[in-house]
Amino acid sequence: MSQILTLTALLVISFYVTFSSSISIPKYDKLLVFGDSYSDDGNVYKLSNGTWPPPFYFKGGFSNGPLWTAFLSQSLSAQLENYAYGGATADDDFIQGYSGADGTLKVPGLKRQVEAFSAKLSNGTDLSHSLAVVWLIGNDYLNTNWTAAPSNVIARSALSWYLLYQKGVRNFLLPNMPDVSLFPYFKGSDPSYLAIIKDVYQKNNAELKKSIDTFKQAKPDVKVYDFQTDQFWVYYRQVQASRLGVTDFVDACASTYENKPLTICSNPDSYFYWDDFHPEAKTEQALAAAFYASLGN
Ligand SMILES: *[C@@H]1O[C@H](CO)[C@@H](O)[C@H](O)[C@H]1NC(C)=O
Ligand SMILES: *[C@@H]1O[C@H](CO)[C@@H](O)[C@H](O)[C@H]1NC(C)=O
Ligand SMILES: *[C@@H]1O[C@H](CO)[C@@H](O)[C@H](O)[C@H]1NC(C)=O
Repeated sequence: MSQILTLTALLVISFYVTFSSSISIPKYDKLLVFGDSYSDDGNVYKLSNGTWPPPFYFKGGFSNGPLWTAFLSQSLSAQLENYAYGGATADDDFIQGYSGADGTLKVPGLKRQVEAFSAKLSNGTDLSHSLAVVWLIGNDYLNTNWTAAPSNVIARSALSWYLLYQKGVRNFLLPNMPDVSLFPYFKGSDPSYLAIIKDVYQKNNAELKKSIDTFKQAKPDVKVYDFQTDQFWVYYRQVQASRLGVTDFVDACASTYENKPLTICSNPDSYFYWDDFHPEAKTEQALAAAFYASLGN
């Protein structure tokens, strides 16, 4: 672990240690990841034959360095099994997940990702020491111009938790959405439009919290870590990031989206966002450290 935890990680963990005298992290043998581009470390890249995300991204993941998935699996010494696809939605029977440079590549949504995992499972596999991360950042809303109902989106996400439970998974990390209205993609948008986006993200997180409570009541033997991504990012921006040399929280380093001419900044390290939607490498590492620390609660 000491190899992995650099200054960023230690600063982040110190925040948590302040509130809990010691951190004791359970042992996990597998890290199972389901979600969208925030977690996809190369699945849609393979599906698109190496065209999406663009080759100047890091090894087919949606950032300029390793994603949180790599850092967290190393910190936990757990084997990473990643089923996430960039562009994925809560349920592609409902709204098709799309990805790719032109946005037409069909990708498996959450339910199909869990089905792919289940299909690979041999009978009798003990999953009680696996940690499943199920995390969506909002493609269901993005694809519908923020008209999809959060209650429906979360109900469909929750379905995947119960499917995983049926297979024997008992440990879940279920992060909520960050404040997506702050994405560089929406910079300069009409304030009334930004207010709609902010409202949807807040409703999504409120629905998520309710559904997690219901899940815990229905399945008393589950352990759920309900990480508050939105709160952590506020803390990280206000307290940690500038100390680490991150000074730009509103712009994208790389202009990847909307057929804009490609530009890449010369100092990605000082950006919070790598592109219009996705965290920069340092942010990924801070996130992984915060996920790790949250497992001690
Ligand atoms: C990737 O390559 C395979 C094999 O040549 C082809 O069947 C598939 O359609 C390609 N996918 C895309 C998205 O271009
Ligand atoms: C697993 O169990 C199911 C039913 O319990 C059976 O249909 C299936 O063939 C088994 N698969 C393997 C690989 O043994
Ligand atoms: C998206 O929604 C906003 C606010 O309701 C509206 O002003 C805008 O025209 C919509 N955009 C599209 C592409 O439908």
